Amino acid sequence: MPNVSEITQTLKDIIESTSELKDVWTQGDISNVRRPQGSNRYFTLREDSTEIECVVFPRASSCYNWMSDPDLQLGGTNWLVKGSVALYSRGSGYRFVVTEIQPLGDATVQPVAVKTVLDALKAALQHNSRLQGIQVQGEIAEVVDLENRGTVLNVKNFPDGGTSDDLIEFALPAWVATSFSATEGSRVCANGQFGIFTQRSVYQIKIYDSANISADGEANLLTVREQPLPQCRECGEPRRPQHELCGMCHHALLEHEGIVVGSVLRYLKSSGLEAFSATREYRIQMGSNNRRADVVLCKEGHSTPAVIAECKRIGYTDSGEARAQLQSYLTATGAPFGILAADTDPYKWEFLKNRQGDNNSDEIERSQFEKEVGFRSPVPSSALPRLELIRGDITEARIDAIVNAANSQLSIGSGVDGAIRRVGGEAIEQALADILANQPIVQPGNAVITTGGELHAKHVIHAVGPIWIDGDYSEPNVLANCYKRSLQLAVANGVQTIAFPSISTGNYGYPPEEAAPIALKAVKQFVEQNGAPKLVQFFLFDEATYSCYVNALAELGLGVSCPIG
Ligand code: AR6
Repeated sequence: MPNVSEITQTLKDIIESTSELKDVWTQGDISNVRRPQGSNRYFTLREDSTEIECVVFPRASSCYNWMSDPDLQLGGTNWLVKGSVALYSRGSGYRFVVTEIQPLGDATVQPVAVKTVLDALKAALQHNSRLQGIQVQGEIAEVVDLENRGTVLNVKNFPDGGTSDDLIEFALPAWVATSFSATEGSRVCANGQFGIFTQRSVYQIKIYDSANISADGEANLLTVREQPLPQCRECGEPRRPQHELCGMCHHALLEHEGIVVGSVLRYLKSSGLEAFSATREYRIQMGSNNRRADVVLCKEGHSTPAVIAECKRIGYTDSGEARAQLQSYLTATGAPFGILAADTDPYKWEFLKNRQGDNNSDEIERSQFEKEVGFRSPVPSSALPRLELIRGDITEARIDAIVNAANSQLSIGSGVDGAIRRVGGEAIEQALADILANQPIVQPGNAVITTGGELHAKHVIHAVGPIWIDGDYSEPNVLANCYKRSLQLAVANGVQTIAFPSISTGNYGYPPEEAAPIALKAVKQFVEQNGAPKLVQFFLFDEATYSCYVNALAELGLGVSCPIG
């Protein structure tokens, strides 16, 4: 059975012999540039929602020198980028190894989309007979618990075999993860399907059946090594000797900081800040104590920061200390404004105006900050349809229609379905029984309408969402159809105001951060095309789901309550 390095070598061979992945020109925005001293240059190339991590080696000297220029201005321009896909030497990842970069205006070449490059990578790897049903064995280097979405295992070679940097991610969906328990240092052997991730530039072996990871008759597949491991400083669970935290806490910490930093960047970005024009620059510093992340925004042609956002991990409550830290930066840099973000929701942030020379700041309203900094806030128009995000229970919505996350048999379930039908009562059950008499099943992506019974809402639209498998089974299309079909039914029945829950992200397991942009885009598109309904609300039951929708809305350049159309 191959070890991690042998599989990695097979992947390398396949990629190197695929001509569509070599010396291709593609195009996109360049962001997240990293220039570590004396090392390679790194950046993210993004086109629409597809991105690929890129690296420039010193041997690509003119490109490397260009990227090393501290005055380099990249923002707002589309770039032509030439390179080849290669496996990343550390970790279960791939990179675009860049050799040339040109502004798009100078184009003499025909670039292909980033997505086309990634599709070629997928085609080369996922359908390759050498990688079908791969069996791999190794030692678990890290366990990343994705809670009810499963587990990722980072697997390395046994200490006595293969290259020590090689790693492969095993992805265990929730139904496999629940019957498999393993800790860092365990030996593991699995039989799975090869897949690539187009968001994080990683590849994975997906294990769909718990039988494929617990035993293959060849060996005792999972033998936990009896050696005491040191404890994680956050939770006391075993951790790898070289890390302070176990895989789970490490991941949680990064993820939380990442979410807040990301939401600040998106907030600043979505504001249409003309004053900062194309050259706004972000620098993110993760503090040495891992609790701080700063975003600095400079005006064009200036090195003095115009805004500093100090981002705090969600749940970090000592706002006095955070404020003092932010104040010290404002004093040191003379930046006129600061944002203290301890959450993903801009409505919960503190906005500070620096009293120059006074070592102090005044707290100001968000609207005042936006006005003074020059945000182009969307002008609310009562004539336009509105979209709103609300944290709460949908059964309490005072609205024309609410949407239920139902199942194909229309049988009563748990989650939002149970809640709606309990409050709505017998009238809904009777109406559903009448529908079932003519139509035994409602296909995923489709919906039916009934009375709202005892609810405040006059109607309930029962929409059937997709059950999440891994995203490759048309789940995004089916989910978008669910929203579209519900809105069609609503408009056909004279509904002016409607409330949706986050369909499929509960029992059906759709990752909310992936579902949110699909839901919002589908609704936005429908409302823009039809000018109706007049109000669409999303009732989001828990903070994490709400945050995903806030972030996805910010990506669309919209706030939590905004006109559309
Ligand atoms: N108000 C708003 N959102 C809610 C409420 C509520 N009262 N209760 C739960 N949610 P789910 P699905 C959120 O499981 O994933 C049912 O049994 C919940 O936190 O209700 O489409 C059906 O019969 C989550 O964010 O729906 C189906 O068999 C979201 O609503 C199956 O579950 C959706 O979670 C459908 O699963």
